[in-house]
Amino acid sequence: MEKQNRRSFLEIGTAFISGIMSLAAGIPLIGFAISPAFKKGESKWVDLGLADRLKNSRFKKVDYTFTAKDGWVKATKKRSVYVTDTGNGGWNVFSRTCSHLGCLVRWDEQKESFLCPCHGAVFDKNGIVVAGPPPRPLQKLQTKVEAGILYVKET
Ligand code: FES
Repeated sequence: MEKQNRRSFLEIGTAFISGIMSLAAGIPLIGFAISPAFKKGESKWVDLGLADRLKNSRFKKVDYTFTAKDGWVKATKKRSVYVTDTGNGGWNVFSRTCSHLGCLVRWDEQKESFLCPCHGAVFDKNGIVVAGPPPRPLQKLQTKVEAGILYVKET
């Protein structure tokens, strides 16, 4: 009887220790496998081309593509922006995506405004909402110039 109790105690102990060792090895693997789902999309600098080519531009439309990784998904995205040289070494780059429902705005030189064709929104030259339903201004992208190339930060 005592021999049988010792044997079952050893069996339970061995199973317990095996379980702990499996968990210790498995948790990092599971964490590695599911961690991309909890990561936010990474921001990156995207090349818009030579800054000199865009110098003195006033709301020049620039289209570009970039690769973004979000979780497990890596996708090529298209973006359209308006670029303005502020004249003092700075740049204003506005996304063309309307902050209401995502239609593409266009710059109207005579009205000095961005106009959205979908629901009549009007944004001023700083991207601020002047009329219509959008809840926010146009997205203004962060810029930098390195080695003569203008970059915008995509998030
Ligand atoms: S999508 Fe631009 S106003 Fe609605």
